[in-house]
Amino acid sequence: MTEIDNISFNELVGHALVVHSTILPEQLAILDNSSKYRPEGIKQNVNDEESLSAIFDTMSNINRMAIEDDHLCTGKNGPSFRQALKLTTTKLAALVEGRQVRYVELGPEPWKSCTILTQLFEAGIDLQQYIGVDINPKSEDTMRKALTPIIGADKFKYLIADFYKCSIDDFPEISTDTQDIVTIVTNLGFQEGNDLPSRIGQMLSRITRKGDLVLSEMQLFNGSVNPCGIVVENKSETIRNFYHHDEMLRFSALVGAQFDESIKASFDWKSKYLFNLVPLDTEVGSVNVATTLVLVNINGEEKYVLTNSCLKYTQEQFKRAREATGTFLVSDSQETGDGSIVFQISERC
Ligand SMILES: C[S@@+](CC[C@H](N)C(=O)[O-])C[C@H]1O[C@@H](n2cnc3c(N)ncnc32)[C@H](O)[C@@H]1O
Repeated sequence: MTEIDNISFNELVGHALVVHSTILPEQLAILDNSSKYRPEGIKQNVNDEESLSAIFDTMSNINRMAIEDDHLCTGKNGPSFRQALKLTTTKLAALVEGRQVRYVELGPEPWKSCTILTQLFEAGIDLQQYIGVDINPKSEDTMRKALTPIIGADKFKYLIADFYKCSIDDFPEISTDTQDIVTIVTNLGFQEGNDLPSRIGQMLSRITRKGDLVLSEMQLFNGSVNPCGIVVENKSETIRNFYHHDEMLRFSALVGAQFDESIKASFDWKSKYLFNLVPLDTEVGSVNVATTLVLVNINGEEKYVLTNSCLKYTQEQFKRAREATGTFLVSDSQETGDGSIVFQISERC
């Protein structure tokens, strides 16, 4: 085990922030990316239940708006976000090659899932089982209500679990005799960027077998960076705009409020919100990581809580990231018309 194996992703991001921004190490409050979604994740919490539901709602709302918007990400008449997802799903259905399907959704949300599953059924897919895996227990009811009309109540299974600690043997048995089953794992909503490529790769390897398929979504970085790590060709506006979306601001405020409830009442709290894109060394070279922070008062001291950190690969880096562990090969990539988002399908070797 190397030294880096013991450092959480957000601690690495914290180091990068200190090097590439004006924030001092003692001003930073770092929490793990997963703890925001976990009941026992944040000790200062005032009302876990309410806050975890609200955090889930922010993600669900963003997905609803994306799926309902005919023009989002079209660029100059290319595929919109929804069209790109549907084009990917058509390719996914073809890669199933007539096998029965087990569908595993990491970090479930209802809008893209309903779109994908409806389309898979239209393509004649034989779904044996859906398994949602979430560390946040507040997602299960919504997911059950959204999916059972499409897939049937008997096919719906849910694990409140940390996907880093899951293996394929933890998944519920499938009541079918045939061995000809393919597992489709979805890792959507940029959560691919919440950790180093090696750790995501190992996690995906543990929950898949040869021939299984992974569908993942990434917000791409299309600018360029000089040798000092500074963004010189600034095409990062789309990323910046995404992190200034009202729902993303609400997400950060919810995480910040778990440290300092007064932020909820502060009418000018948006002035305490910081977005930074900083370079981070990873196994696939220097990758830009989007960071959001809110300034809160913790035990009388002003601190920046790191509320989100997410790698933004280039298209080429994303392919290398998936293939770096040697256990997956990328089969297909579908970008939106503006090139800001890509859906990637890979196959377990
Ligand atoms: C960035 S959100 C993405 C949500 C959704 N997949 C989407 O497409 O918008 C990350 C999701 O993963 C879940 N999550 C984060 N860390 C997790 C972990 N270690 N184990 C299981 N679920 C986790 C969170 O509860 C949250 O729903």
